[in-house]
Amino acid sequence: MTLYCEQTPYSRLAGEFGTPLYVYSQAALTGAFCAYTDAFATLNPLVCYAVKANGNLSILKHFAVLGSGFDIVSGGELARVLAAGGDAGKTIFSGVGKSEAEIEFALNAGVLCFNVESLPELDRIQAVAERIGKTAPVSLRINPDVDAKTHPYISTGLKSNKFGIAYADAPAAYRYAAGLGRLKITGIDCHIGSQLTDLSPLVEACERILLLVDRLAAEGIELEHIDLGGGIGIVYRDENAPDLNAYAQSVARMMAGRRQKLVLEPGRSLVGRAGTLLTRVEFVKQGEEKNFVIVDAAMNDLMRPALYHAYHRIEVVGQKKRQPFVADVVGPICETGDFLGKERELACEAGDLLLVADAGAYCSSMAGNYNTRNRAAEVLVNGSEARLIRRRETWEQQMANETACL
Ligand code: LLP
Repeated sequence: MTLYCEQTPYSRLAGEFGTPLYVYSQAALTGAFCAYTDAFATLNPLVCYAVKANGNLSILKHFAVLGSGFDIVSGGELARVLAAGGDAGKTIFSGVGKSEAEIEFALNAGVLCFNVESLPELDRIQAVAERIGKTAPVSLRINPDVDAKTHPYISTGLKSNKFGIAYADAPAAYRYAAGLGRLKITGIDCHIGSQLTDLSPLVEACERILLLVDRLAAEGIELEHIDLGGGIGIVYRDENAPDLNAYAQSVARMMAGRRQKLVLEPGRSLVGRAGTLLTRVEFVKQGEEKNFVIVDAAMNDLMRPALYHAYHRIEVVGQKKRQPFVADVVGPICETGDFLGKERELACEAGDLLLVADAGAYCSSMAGNYNTRNRAAEVLVNGSEARLIRRRETWEQQMANETACL
């Protein structure tokens, strides 16, 4: 079958730009963003795209043009947002370990707020703001102690996780923040985990956060915004598709009559399904117990299978008739953990092109250089047009900061 990204055949892209290659559909990015703004239209939320899902400058620019804000977790991500023309005033700075330098950079850039995760972090922001003569807008990230029922590595809302301020400690933390003269309390936030396919934990977290908002109001602490964290999960295989409209309706019901602005920080659901990784088959190898399709992409390009045993659909791109067989799809890296898929039925030979589906989120952004492999190129497709949005890395670039001294 000839497979296309919009009106562009994948085979043409692989021929023109080489493999491994990330390919993104601009229409799919737009569609995913508008799905959020449409579903939540009655609340007119600020959608802050979570840059960590995919920080390519063209993708950030595309979202900025659509009116998106950004959720960042490092100074580097802020630099990306600014380089892409994003609005610092619509950017929130999350994360448990912000450095002084990062806080100073963000204060000078004028971010919308810091999502603060501990009392020592409040002290640090107060000290930096004092030193440079600024006031820092802060929101406290509260850990609602709700089980997100997702992979333990990406579940963040339990008492045992490193994230957020404990629910029971929240009022005292707000009182403490209110006493720090360089801080302006603007909001509250939570984020219970990623790849959530069940809506009930999201709804429960929202309920618990709103209870807290009321308790704080009774103490005279009025908030300007309520940030419900990341977005819903996506379908990689046969998961239940979470219904964005149902989520939005529940939130709208709970937020009815409140004056606070709603903030959302979706990442995966904005970019995940818009991206594909193209990879070429190097060899088909018949092992003693198993067959292996050895491809030119590896765990350094797409580490989700190795790290979380995540499933990504793999398909053969092309029209030639082949005999199907079952094989593990593996990369050239010297580790048994280097696989993109296990026990897949495929009909391919050396030289064929494969696509790894739903690779727009947490794939290129988590890529590395293990085995001194260059990071893949990235292409953005719009109809029948394709633009190179990241050149393939070179060995010289990889070694540029090193010296061979004795
Ligand atoms: N906000 C905060 C504070 C976050 O930590 C995250 C994701 C998000 C928003 C975006 O969540 P999303 O809408 O994408 O679910 N590398 C893992 C995912 C890690 C998610 C980390 N935090 C993976 O490949 O599945």
